[in-house]
Amino acid sequence: MSREELFSVRPLFNPEGRHVYLETYGCQMNVNDSEVVLSILQGAGFTLCEKMDEADLILVNTCSIRDNAEQRVLGRLDLFRQEKKRRPGVVVGVLGCMAERLKDKLLENSAVDIVAGPDAYRDLPRLVEAVTASGKQINTILSHEETYADIAPVRMDKQGVSAFISIMRGCNNVCSYCIVPYVRGAERSRDPESILNEARTLIDAGYREINLLGQNVDSYNWSPADPAEGKLDFAGLLDRVARLDPAVRIRFATSHPKDMSDRVLHTMASHPNICRHIHLPVQSGSDVMLEKMNRKYTRARYMEQIASIRRIMPDCAVTTDVIAGFSGESDEDFEATLSLFREVRYDGAFMFQYSERPGTKASRHYPDDVPAAVKTARLNEIIALQNGISLERNRECVGKFYEVLIEGPSKRSDAELVGRTSQNKTCVFPAGGHRPGEYVNVRVLSCTSATLLCEVV
Ligand code: SAH
Ligand code: SF4
Ligand code: F3S
Repeated sequence: MSREELFSVRPLFNPEGRHVYLETYGCQMNVNDSEVVLSILQGAGFTLCEKMDEADLILVNTCSIRDNAEQRVLGRLDLFRQEKKRRPGVVVGVLGCMAERLKDKLLENSAVDIVAGPDAYRDLPRLVEAVTASGKQINTILSHEETYADIAPVRMDKQGVSAFISIMRGCNNVCSYCIVPYVRGAERSRDPESILNEARTLIDAGYREINLLGQNVDSYNWSPADPAEGKLDFAGLLDRVARLDPAVRIRFATSHPKDMSDRVLHTMASHPNICRHIHLPVQSGSDVMLEKMNRKYTRARYMEQIASIRRIMPDCAVTTDVIAGFSGESDEDFEATLSLFREVRYDGAFMFQYSERPGTKASRHYPDDVPAAVKTARLNEIIALQNGISLERNRECVGKFYEVLIEGPSKRSDAELVGRTSQNKTCVFPAGGHRPGEYVNVRVLSCTSATLLCEVV
C-alpha cells in the first residue's frame, strides 16, 4: 500500500489481516474519538468491518451521561459475550466514558477483555496484543495534554459531506449533575495549526461541512509555548477556519451561556459560511436550579444573550438542552422552565429527565428527590410544548427560500434527498439528478415539526 493510502481519510477495506468492529454511543465527540481509534488501529494493521461476526476485535465506545445510556451498553455486552462463546479468541474492548467511570469493575464482566478510557487510545494496539499474551487489560489514565492532534481520524460517515473536528477535550466546569469532567478529565485546547491542517485535508477530500467540537467551545484558549506566536480564543479560531474556503460550511457545538461572547457572534455574522445556528443549553429556567446546577448564569443573563444573538444575526436559529426533575425542582421551578421555552421559542431542543450520576457533586449533596412519575410527566409536558413551538417555527419557513447542503438520500426513498439549511433545519426534496455535497436552493412548500418539505428552485 502506498503512503497516501495508509493515511487515507476513509476506512481501508482489506479482506486480509485482522478486522475490527466498532460501535459508538454518546455525543459527537465520541463519534470523532471512534474515528481516532480507527486511525490508530489501521496503523496497527486492523481494517474496519461492518458485521460483528467478521471481527477479530469488537470495540464499543461508550457514554455515561445518563443511566439509560449505560444500560444500553451493558445490553450490548451480553450480545458480545455470546459472540465470544461462538468464536473463542475474539477480543472485546470497552472504550470511552463508561470505561473511565467504571474502570476495573468492567473487567469483572466476563464479556470484557480490554477497558480503555478516552485518553488511552494510543495504547490500544499494545493492549490488544497483551490480551493474547496475558489476559485482561486496562488503561484509564487521564491526561492533561492528550488531544490526539497528530492523528488523522478515519472518517466513517456514509456520504463524505460533513465531518467532525475536536478542537478541545475534557471540561473544567463542574455542573453539579454532570459526569463529563470526571470521565473526560481537565479541559485542554488543541493546537490551532493541527486543527487547520485537518480542516484542509477534509476540504481536499471533498467535505463541505466542518463541525468544530468541544464540551464548551467558548473556552477554547490556545497559549503557544512561544508567547510571540500570540494567543488564540474561540472567535479567533472560528475566523481562521471559516477563511479556509468560503464554499465550506462551519458549525460548532457546544456553546456555554457563561462564556459565549459577542465577539463570537460578530465573527459568525462576518462569515456567511459560518452556519446561522447556536446550540446554547439552558438546562433550567429557574435561577434556584441554575445556582444549584452550578451553571454560573442567571435566567436574565441568558435572555440577554438570546437578545444579542437575535440583534446581531436576526436569521440565527437557537436550540438548547434542558433537564426536567433535577434535585428539589418544584412545580414553580419547572413552570419557570416552561415559561422560558415560551419566551425564547427555540427552533429545537434535546430534553432529558434528570439521572443521578455517582460521584458528581449533586449525588453527594443534593437528594434525587423528584419522584420518577413527576420527572416523566414534566418531561412529557416540555416535549409537547417544544414540539408545538418547533412546528410553529417551521411554519414560519414555509414559502421562503434557503440554500441547502445535500447530505444524502432520504430515509424513505432514494428518489428524495436530505440536506440542511444554514439554520440546521432538515429539508427533504425530490432528487432530480442532484448529489450529496452539492448546494441547492430550495423553496419550502410545507413542514412537520421536524422537517421542511421543499422543491428545488
Ligand atoms: N457540554 C455541554 C453538554 C454536555 S452533555 C453543555 O455544557 O451544555 C449533554 C446534555 O446532557 C447536557 O446539556 C444536559 O442537558 C444533559 N445531561 C447532562 N448530565 C445529565 C444528567 N445527569 N441527567 C440528565 N441529563 C443530563
Ligand atoms: Fe457537563 Fe457542564 Fe461540562 Fe457541559 S459544561 S460537559 S454540562 S460539566
Ligand atoms: Fe456521553 Fe462522554 Fe459524550 S459521557 S455525552 S460520550 S463526553
